[in-house]
Amino acid sequence: MSIQYNAESRIFHLTAGGTSYVMQIIRDGYLSHLYWGKRLRRYAGSNELQYLDRGFSPNPDPDDRTFSLDTLPQEYPAYGATDFRNPAYQVQLQDGTTVSDLRVRSHRIVAGKPALPGLPAAYAEDGSEAETLLIELADEVSGLAATLSYTVYEQRNVITRSVLLRNEGTQPQQVLRAFSANVDFRDDGFDLVHLPGAWARERHMERQPLHTGIQSIESRRGASSHQHNPFFALARKDATERSGEVYAFSLVYSGSFTASVEVDQFSTARASIGLNDFDFSWRLEPGEAFQCPEALLVYSADGLGGMSRTFHSLFRERMCRGEFRDRERPILINNWEGTYFDFNAESIEQFAEAGRELGMELFVLDDGWFGKRNDDKTSLGDWFVNESKLPGGLGKLAGSIVDKGMRFGLWVEPEMISRDSELYRKHPDWCLHVPGRSRSEGRSQLVLDFTRDEVCSEIVRSVSDILRSAPITYVKWDMNRHMTEIGSPALPPERQRETAHRYMLGLYKIMEELTSAFPHVLFESCSGGGGRFDPGMLYYMPQTWTSDNTDAVSRLKIQYGTSLVYPVSTMGAHVSAVPNHQVHRTTTLEMRGHVAMSGNFGYELDVTALSEEEQTAIRSQIEFYSAHRALIQFGDLYRLLSPFEGSETAWMFVSKDKCEALVFYFRTGAEANSRISRILLQGLDEQADYACEQGIVYGGDELMSSGLAIPALWKEDYESMVWKFTQRP
Ligand code: DGJ
Repeated sequence: MSIQYNAESRIFHLTAGGTSYVMQIIRDGYLSHLYWGKRLRRYAGSNELQYLDRGFSPNPDPDDRTFSLDTLPQEYPAYGATDFRNPAYQVQLQDGTTVSDLRVRSHRIVAGKPALPGLPAAYAEDGSEAETLLIELADEVSGLAATLSYTVYEQRNVITRSVLLRNEGTQPQQVLRAFSANVDFRDDGFDLVHLPGAWARERHMERQPLHTGIQSIESRRGASSHQHNPFFALARKDATERSGEVYAFSLVYSGSFTASVEVDQFSTARASIGLNDFDFSWRLEPGEAFQCPEALLVYSADGLGGMSRTFHSLFRERMCRGEFRDRERPILINNWEGTYFDFNAESIEQFAEAGRELGMELFVLDDGWFGKRNDDKTSLGDWFVNESKLPGGLGKLAGSIVDKGMRFGLWVEPEMISRDSELYRKHPDWCLHVPGRSRSEGRSQLVLDFTRDEVCSEIVRSVSDILRSAPITYVKWDMNRHMTEIGSPALPPERQRETAHRYMLGLYKIMEELTSAFPHVLFESCSGGGGRFDPGMLYYMPQTWTSDNTDAVSRLKIQYGTSLVYPVSTMGAHVSAVPNHQVHRTTTLEMRGHVAMSGNFGYELDVTALSEEEQTAIRSQIEFYSAHRALIQFGDLYRLLSPFEGSETAWMFVSKDKCEALVFYFRTGAEANSRISRILLQGLDEQADYACEQGIVYGGDELMSSGLAIPALWKEDYESMVWKFTQRP
């Protein structure tokens, strides 16, 4: 049993893999947090909560000046009744007041993991791998009720949390804030690790010590965003890649979110994550409910590396779904950087044919095939083929590429509408907007109003028609701007602040319908590169285009940062031309190959214009990747050297049975008389011997303790190396 309840002490003890999470019902129904960390055999904790009469920490019970919510570690704290810290929720009643007081009424434990209605969430495949605790709370004055759910996976260091709010009163209520999880830590001895960035510079890892007050990361953009990722970790000061305690939070959501840590007057840290409450509220009529997205809590005693591997296997195995979940992903050739909008049927056929001859498996036709689209100013929403560019349509083009032995994939951007489109001329009110105000454009486009059922149905219909029109087995689902003037004329005034979340619910419904209707299509999400790289998208689409920046050196940081949370099988990575189109840097083809094959491998350059030498190199890259694809996509990732700490980067992939390992090493910027480098490998079997292709047989213990010497000879500014190790019987 993973969830135990002691009726006498009223303690819940949840165990998940190597983790314990402990809560207690105290007094008349307060739910206090006792412990989260390394797995414990049992929890007595009799003197855990300290009661003291403290100045300016008021007391809900006038007869007890030692009890204040201001000092009580809590599971789902409110504002207004003695706790002055950052609350997890706030609800406004019909009389305008905002005080609430949820107390535990009952609980139940169920096998498995119930789904969240309308929202993506981690899942359990059967009742034996997970168990769920549902705690019912109620506020007797207002009729507000909440169900806190906690799922523990038997074999994973993961606890999932979510909250359902219900109005059981007789008057409408306005939810002003509804976070998904709150954890009150006993101290503040942590560094905050998170993944800020920008377009073409996504998920650059930052680590800062906590300070007194609130520190937060958030997106107000209507997307999880390039600028922040819905993830943060609290790492103990001594935690490294390989060791030490890390407590991580991830939100299964693709829209605006907020995550914060408040260090209070007593040096305790309150961490929370959930929907961004900025410009948000949700009206609950009597009898209505509001479901918060799911938060994932991961504990690691093995540093950031251990945390990442827990997220990786969870996302790979219990977030991604569908027939591609466990399948090796195809090596693709995408025409975007090769042609941009400048193509026709003949040039595309030549392009695909050149890719096929080199061994590429899937051709992806990117932007520019529909409506009158010859630049990025027009036609979004007009999802019918541009016959003047592609006479005979997609069926003819895709058919001929498929006949030659390649798969065919297509780019779409279904969430958007161009002002210059037939769809906009017909339905000018189908975009998010505020009547009477101008409609700000991003990349010359507007965002469709997915709060409206008729808009969602039209998009499902038009995308389905395209997918049925040709042998399409892959879709790149793009989204190229953030939301402004977030409003919907279809919603009443008191529901305007629901627009952004209702949009996400509409989007998730569309993606659920399309991915269920087309189970044989591999979907890849994209948002101007990695602007929506989050678990919510992975629930529907098992891979994401990591960044519009395809420069190998920039990609080291982007892919390293992304790998903190997301598995390699989800990370699209392509070899592109030099000088690179985003940063104009020239790197070696070898290094571009090694960086891209450390992800979901593909090419994105004009394959019809390659030299003989380049063709030979690409053929051998494809051969190498094909031979090691399963190891890279489904093995365990160990990060060895960080690009955020110097000019060297290294990572390795180890097969589950530890029989095979692949080590990649990169160095940027040649240096005279450079340092002598060794890298300590990880994840191998200490007792086993490993043969390397260079002919030497090493002990696993030697490779992990003495390390691998990096040859000191450098020819160029940008260098990379790869070693393969195979266990000797
Ligand atoms: C942004 C994507 O990230 C690119 O890869 C490309 O598909 C363009 N959009 C096309 O407009």
